[in-house]
Amino acid sequence: MLHALRDNGILTDSDCEEGYCGTCELVVLGGVPDHRDTVLSRAERAAHRTFMPCVSRAVTPTLALDL
Ligand code: FES
Repeated sequence: MLHALRDNGILTDSDCEEGYCGTCELVVLGGVPDHRDTVLSRAERAAHRTFMPCVSRAVTPTLALDL
């Protein structure tokens, strides 16, 4: 998803791009992420308030992000 954002002119910070540093963390406004990072705790994953777009995806057809 990080590369899709960049391809559409939305620049977000990143470092590891493998889901372990947390640099790319974005706020989720709607929808459900498929968390594939190793940064968020179990409680944070369940809350779906943020996600790491370098490795994570969406479970729902749309994901609204605070960009
Ligand atoms: S760039 Fe490190 S977690 Fe996304």
